[in-house]
Amino acid sequence: MEHSLPSHHRALVLDDRRSGFELKTIPTPSPDPGSAVVQISAAGILPYHHQVLRHYPIPTPLVGGFSAIGRVVATGPDAVALQPGTFVYVDCVIRARDDPDSLFLSAIIEGFTDGSKKLMRDVWRNGTFAEYSKVPLENCIPLNEARLNTELGYSIPSLMYMAFLMVPYGGLRDINVQPGETIIVCPATGGYSSAGVLVAVAMGARVIAMARNTEKLALLVEHVKRVLPNASIATAQITGDEAKDATTLREFGPADAVLDLTPHAASSSSHTRSAIKALRRGGRVSLMGSTEGIGAPEIMMNDITLKGKMMYDRLDILSFVKMLECGLFPQGENFAKTAVFSLEQWKEGLDAAENRSGIGQCTVFVP
Ligand SMILES: NC(=O)c1ccc[n+]([C@@H]2O[C@H](COP(=O)([O-])OP(=O)(O)OC[C@H]3O[C@@H](n4cnc5c(N)ncnc54)[C@H](OP(=O)(O)O)[C@@H]3O)[C@@H](O)[C@H]2O)c1
Repeated sequence: MEHSLPSHHRALVLDDRRSGFELKTIPTPSPDPGSAVVQISAAGILPYHHQVLRHYPIPTPLVGGFSAIGRVVATGPDAVALQPGTFVYVDCVIRARDDPDSLFLSAIIEGFTDGSKKLMRDVWRNGTFAEYSKVPLENCIPLNEARLNTELGYSIPSLMYMAFLMVPYGGLRDINVQPGETIIVCPATGGYSSAGVLVAVAMGARVIAMARNTEKLALLVEHVKRVLPNASIATAQITGDEAKDATTLREFGPADAVLDLTPHAASSSSHTRSAIKALRRGGRVSLMGSTEGIGAPEIMMNDITLKGKMMYDRLDILSFVKMLECGLFPQGENFAKTAVFSLEQWKEGLDAAENRSGIGQCTVFVP
């Protein structure tokens, strides 16, 4: 079904990787089978978007992007649920329909298979830093606008914080975290990892947040308790002494699971091994970051399951949206402190995103 689409629209186009984006007026895409055209209301900016522009493997020229919030304005003839006007979350993880293992992150990274590279180069090249974007139908996740905006008080730009919560949710769901379980999140004060603390609490888990900096941990606890007063959260300091940190964690009783979101800078830190040593027999670990040298005898002795996880699956998104619409996350302005930039301000937007990575922080373009 086609709505009235403008012939042209504005978009941030990356051609010369040294000079960055250029705001251009480009033809508006038409929907074809399997796609929808979405009018973008807000598009998230990653803390490392400057690096994406300079170094990440992507074809050029392309329109930049990440996940977004918007409104469907036109659909291909095979759409049966989406229609013009549907309010949607546009997910950046694109999978080949005939090989879901070929996946890439729209306008961010071309993926690791010949299929994902072909799909990005030839079909889904352009992202959401634009007034309009053509996306796969299955990447449009309907949102209950009245519930989210009016009843729960989420502004449209702040809803982009979903993109940060959804990543740890993918890992926590992958290791089947249950209400009442004790989850160690390590480290816990980063952008995605602090989001992981919030998600684990919203899933009904007891969280032990682990990080080096006790002041940041105190701020994290204060934030979580303020926005989710019933949260069960404790902290443990990463000292770098593997045995000592494991002992500190064991004082909380045996943990059920670990969510590891170690950034590259901390890949050789011993905190993941300490967390594994604090697990009960049969404990699970979701490895979502860059930790190295995990080997610990306890993995064998205690029947520990280690699982890697890249992003999340579509069912995770649907399940996450149900939790959000239920009101399980911080509501209204407590959801995320959101900084908004126009497409003209792209440099300021990318700089701000780089400096605003942390709990409840979100930076977006509003085209
Ligand atoms: N699997 C996926 O699909 C997926 C998706 C998105 C992101 N990721 C990965 O998730 C990871 C974390 O992302 P993020 O945004 O949370 O990263 P981030 O914001 O850079 O993480 C910062 C955290 O790491 C801690 N840290 C830094 N250096 C450390 C060190 N040497 N020793 C111990 N702790 C240290 C920081 O503690 P201090 O405050 O003490 O510095 C803080 O808690 C990244 O590796 C990213 O690639 C994975």
